[in-house]
Amino acid sequence: MLVVENLTKKFKCGLFKTTTVQAVNNVSFTLKPGEAFGLIGNSGSGKSTLARLLVRLLEPSAGRIIYQGTDLTALPLNRFQPYRRKIQLIFQQPTLALNPRRTVWESLTEPWFRHGLVKTREQARAKAADLMALTNLSEEVLERYPRQISGGQAQRIVIARSLGLEPEIIIADEPTSMLDVSIQAQILRLLKVLQQERGISIMLISHDPSVIKSCCDRVALIQDGQIVAVGEPSTVLAKSNKQWKLSPGPGLILPRPSLVPQTIS
Ligand SMILES: Nc1ncnc2c1ncn2[C@@H]1O[C@H](COP(=O)(O)OP(=O)(O)OP(=O)(O)O)[C@@H](O)[C@H]1O
Ligand SMILES: [Mg+2]
Repeated sequence: MLVVENLTKKFKCGLFKTTTVQAVNNVSFTLKPGEAFGLIGNSGSGKSTLARLLVRLLEPSAGRIIYQGTDLTALPLNRFQPYRRKIQLIFQQPTLALNPRRTVWESLTEPWFRHGLVKTREQARAKAADLMALTNLSEEVLERYPRQISGGQAQRIVIARSLGLEPEIIIADEPTSMLDVSIQAQILRLLKVLQQERGISIMLISHDPSVIKSCCDRVALIQDGQIVAVGEPSTVLAKSNKQWKLSPGPGLILPRPSLVPQTIS
């Protein structure tokens, strides 16, 4: 479905743009239809850069991304638009993905109107109601502003908005690392339902082996911009423990002080 060939991204940095960082280095892999594919690696290993390349938020320095036979990297941006809908990227911080000055309803439905997926307010209402049910949200949330909803609710809205665009691939970049531990499992279950019941291919990016083990059919391990292993999660993760140490990244959520069991003396 999505074939990535020798993808490379170099950034020029420094005051005089003289230093080069090779964030993604000659990466190749295939995302199969309907699979849950994991991407695991330490902080700074190139996971988010790779995700951004796949949706052309960044342009590659080299390599190709082939989606159902079309080389996306060769398309001018205006011809890429129809594909943008099919490959959705979900970020780590859902509240940043929602416009603070728009109600949830406005943020949710605006892209549907823009892409011509709904024509009337009634159609948008019906679609929103379906998606709110699927993502387990109350319709009351639609009237609120982002500051009036929780992080978990915001992430469900972002997922609902993507689903409304009828994607074939969802790339979720650490979608739960900013959320409470109790909410993390619910969001991951939702992604699993979308994969299993709607046949959407999910690429789940995480630095957490337990997340990858519980959700993914296959996993790629990325290190310093290069994929160093691909396969079944148990095999790759066992290997990673021996050969490549995965360290908890900055996204690691520690229990909030109020949730840490208190010792009563
Ligand atoms: N716009 C940029 N300009 C220069 N260097 C960048 C840029 N974006 C990323 N990098 C560098 O590329 C490397 C990979 O960054 P990236 O954000 O893809 O890592 P990551 O695996 O997503 O890390 P994390 O787990 O912390 O989110 C890092 O060394 C980073 O500093
Ligand atoms: Mg990242």
